[in-house]
Amino acid sequence: MNRRYRKTIIAGNWKMNKTASETKKFAEELKTLLPKAKWCDVVVCVPAVNIPAAIKAFKDMRVSVGAENVFYEKSGAYTGEVSADMLKDLGVKYVIIGHSERRQYFGETDVTVNKKVHAALEAGLHPIICVGESLEQRELGITMELIALQVKSALAGVPAEKLRRCVIAYEPIWAIGTGKTATAEQAAEVCTFIRTTVRHLYGARIARSITIQYGGSMKPSNAAELLAQPDIDGGLIGGAALKPDEFVNIINAANQE
Ligand code: PGA
Repeated sequence: MNRRYRKTIIAGNWKMNKTASETKKFAEELKTLLPKAKWCDVVVCVPAVNIPAAIKAFKDMRVSVGAENVFYEKSGAYTGEVSADMLKDLGVKYVIIGHSERRQYFGETDVTVNKKVHAALEAGLHPIICVGESLEQRELGITMELIALQVKSALAGVPAEKLRRCVIAYEPIWAIGTGKTATAEQAAEVCTFIRTTVRHLYGARIARSITIQYGGSMKPSNAAELLAQPDIDGGLIGGAALKPDEFVNIINAANQE
C-alpha cells in the first residue's frame, strides 16, 4: 500500500453465492464488525440479481456495491445481458471485468474485456480489470509478457483522464479458490510490473495513482504481508469475503494508519 498516492481498496467478489436475503443478513453482521474509521475503501461485488438488495443493505455503511460483469452494448437484443447504464442507474459504483472465470467459462477475451472497460467508463462506473497467468504460463516463464498483453489490450484507447477510475487486479489463476496464495514476493513482482506497464503507457504521475489489487486466496492470515508490499493497494477477495468476520479481518489489515 502507499496511501499517500493512491486509494487502498478491499473488494469482495461473491461470485455465484448468496441470495438476496443472505445479502441482507451479511450486511447486518458486517455492520456490527466494521471499524468506525476506514482508511481503505470497501466494496462488495455481488451477483446481478442481488444488486438492489445490496444497495439497500449497505446504504449508510460506506460500503460500495459492485457488479461482477457487464455487457458492452448500450441496449438491444442481447438476451440475458446487463448494460453499464443499468448498473449505474441502480447505484453500482464498481464492476469486475475480465475475471479469469469469465475468460475460462464464458468466452471472455482481451477484445471483449477492452470493450467492456470502455462501456463501464462511458457509464461512469469504476472497472476492476482482472489479469493473471495460469500455472502453465508461469512455468513457461511468460508471466510478464502475458500480463503486459492483458493490461495493454484492456486499456487500449482509454484516455488518461479516465484511467483514474480504473483499478487493476492481479489474480494468478493458480491461486484462485485453490488455497494456494502467491507469495508476497511473487505478487509484488507482478504488481510492480503492472505499474511499470501503466507508466510506459500513461506516464509516471498516473502510474503512481492507480490502485493495483492482488487476488487469489487472500485471507486474514496472509493479507497484512501482501498489503505491506508498496505496489499492492488492496485485494479482490473471493472465499474469505463470504464470511463477515474474515472479510473484516482483511479490512482491518488494510486499515492501518
Ligand atoms: P479467492 O477468489 O479469494 O476465493 O481465491 C479470488 C477471486 O477470484 O477474485
